[in-house]
Amino acid sequence: MKRAFPPEFTPLLSEQQIAGRIAQLGRQITADYRDKSLTALVVLKGSFMFCADLLRQIDVPLHVEFMGLRSYGNKTSSSGVVQITMDTKHPLEGEHVLIIEDIVDTGLTLDYLKNNLSTRNPASIALATLLHKPARQIKDVPIDYLGFEIEDKFVVGYGLDFAGKYRNLPEIGYLDPPPI
Ligand code: IMP
Ligand code: MG
Repeated sequence: MKRAFPPEFTPLLSEQQIAGRIAQLGRQITADYRDKSLTALVVLKGSFMFCADLLRQIDVPLHVEFMGLRSYGNKTSSSGVVQITMDTKHPLEGEHVLIIEDIVDTGLTLDYLKNNLSTRNPASIALATLLHKPARQIKDVPIDYLGFEIEDKFVVGYGLDFAGKYRNLPEIGYLDPPPI
C-alpha cells in the first residue's frame, strides 16, 4: 500500500518485517547477555525507534544510556568528522556496552565511537545496528547484531531522516526521486 505521505516514498522494509527481525535479535541478545551487566548505549537521533522496539525484546536487566553524535558531511554522506553533541550520564567502566545504532554506512561514525568508548574501560563493546550498507563501507566495523543488509540507497523512516524529515514513518523506504 502506498502511503499518502510522502509521495516520493518507496517502501523497502515493512513494519512487519522490521518487528520480526527485531524479535529475533532480541532473543539472540537475551541469550548472549544473561548474567552480564548490560548497558544499552543508544546513538541519537536516528536510533530512537529501533531502540524502543529492540529493548522491549531483551529479557535481561539493563541500563540505558544515550549519546548524541553528529557527523559532518554533505547531505547524504558522512565525512568522518564526528562531534559528540550529548554524552552519557554514567561511566561505562566495567559495563558490557551494547551500542544501538540505526545504520552503518561508511562506518566512520561507529569507528570513531568505538575508539572513543574503548578509552572508558568497558568490560566489552558490541554493536547492534538495524541497517548496514556494505557498498559504501570505508572503515570495517564489526557488527555483532545486524537487522538488514541493504543496497546503496539513501533510506528514511523508522527514525532515519533526510534533512530532519521522515523520522516518524513507521516503515523504511527510499525517496524516489532521490534527494540531491
Ligand atoms: P556513517 O558514518 O557513514 O557510517 O553513517 C553515519 C550516520 O549517517 C548514520 O548513523 C546515519 O545517521 C546517517 N546515515 C547514513 N546513511 C543513511 C541513510 O541512508 N539514511 C539516513 N541516514 C543515514
Ligand atoms: Mg545515526
